[in-house]
Parts: sequence; structure tokens; C-alpha cells
Amino acid sequence: MRVYIRPTPQAVVEFACRAICSQVRRKPTSVLGLATGNTMIPLYAGLVAEHRRGLDFGQVQTFNLDEYVGLSPDHPSSYAQYMKQHFFEHIPMASNRLPQGLAADLDEHCREYEQAISQAGGIDLQLLGLGHNGHIGFNEPTSSLSSSTRVRTLTESTRQANQSSFASEERVPARVITMGIATILRAQQCLLLAYGEPKARAVAAMIEGPVTSMCPASVLQFHAHCTVVIDEAAARHLALRDYFMECEANSEASP
Ligand code: GLP
Repeated sequence: MRVYIRPTPQAVVEFACRAICSQVRRKPTSVLGLATGNTMIPLYAGLVAEHRRGLDFGQVQTFNLDEYVGLSPDHPSSYAQYMKQHFFEHIPMASNRLPQGLAADLDEHCREYEQAISQAGGIDLQLLGLGHNGHIGFNEPTSSLSSSTRVRTLTESTRQANQSSFASEERVPARVITMGIATILRAQQCLLLAYGEPKARAVAAMIEGPVTSMCPASVLQFHAHCTVVIDEAAARHLALRDYFMECEANSEASP
């Protein structure tokens, strides 16, 4: 895991924006795995600005991590709408796929989603946010560390965290479709962003804690090319904070 600590959320976002742009320049046919959440909003704005400055995403394919079960793609609180608003309607790409919350046969749809990722050649770069409880995608604590795309039930804490997009907590759907942890680990590279003090405990558990399904993000310790970019506030509980800074200063990969 390579850990980069930046002074501000803005610097975290700029780092991630550069990483994604260089992936697309290096491989214009990149397959990107995309995430939602507040963390990603300024990142998508940055990518849209790069596109307006001339970066071509026309051959890029994308697959989103997750979607709420029961919401249509045009529901204002769906992740499909979030993606459209913040990213897809601003940049032409080869294809943009999300899990379909209204699929008639959810299990079959999950299998097809996995197949579609494989048929696209697999994910080159998977973007990830981090839940306060250590979730990635919607893989809540106790998720199987070898899971594929499937339906999961949200924890109460996640429903509370996400209620700002809905009229009230009661309206946050209980079930979601999410890429699995094994799906995420199959990506060639992972890029996880987190900023702000409320993420600091989950960040420390992910980077320095034991690998455990109680903190699903900790499984990223097994990924050979995982980059974690956090701000000072989110780095607050890292025991090895100074070591990570030193690794970067020496231009070598952190463990
Ligand atoms: C949401 C999403 C995750 C996201 C995380 C953090 O529930 N399913 O993919 O990374 O929670 O969200 P935020 O960036 O709003 O803190």
C-alpha cells in the first residue's frame, strides 16, 4: 500500500485527478471503476475541467461500484443520477455502466455485471471512497473478503450517513447492489481517497489494523498496487504517519 498524506482535501483531490488523467493518457481505452459519495464530487469536477482543456475520454469504459436496490436510474437519489450530474453528462465516453437497482432478477443481474467487467478486459483503475465503518463500495463489515457483485443490506450507520441524499433515513433503501471485495481486488490498480477527521479511525484500521471483514477496506493490504491518498485530518490516528511521509520523500513505495 502506498500512502500519500496531503495538507488539504483539495490537494488530495488534485493528486487523484492527476493519477486518473495520466491513466487515461497512458491507455485511452482504460476501464475505470468509479465511486460515488461526497468525497468524489470535487474529483469529478476536476476531471470535467481536464476534459474541457482537451483530455479525451472517448474510448474509456466505466463501471460503478454500487447502486440502491429499488431505485430507477432517473430517481433523483440514485447513483445513476449522481454520476450523470457530476460526470457523465459532461464527458462523452465509450460506455458508462452501473448496477441496475430495478433489475427483475437481481442475482442474475449481478452475474451479468461481473461478466461485463470481464468482457471489457477487467478494471484498470478502481477508484474508492471509504465509509466511516471501513466499507468500500457497499461492502459493509462482515462482508466476505472473497465476494463478487451481489445484493447486500446496509447497516444503520451507513443509512444515516447517506440520508442527506434522501428525504429521511427511512427513505434510504435497505438493500444495495455492490461490486464484491474480490471484484475490487481484481482491478489492476486501486486508488482510495479519504479526507476529514471523521474518516481518521477507518483510515487507521484500513492501513495499520489487521485484515478483517470488520473493516472491509483492510483487505486492500493484499492488493499489490493500491494507492491511498488522505489529508492530514484523516491521517490523524496513523501510528506510522511520519514513516509514510519519509517514504514519499525518499520516493519509494510504502509497505
Ligand atoms: C457510500 C458509497 C461508497 C463511498 C462511501 C463514502 O456509501 N457507497 O462508495 O465511498 O459511502 O462516502 P462519502 O464520500 O460521502 O463519505
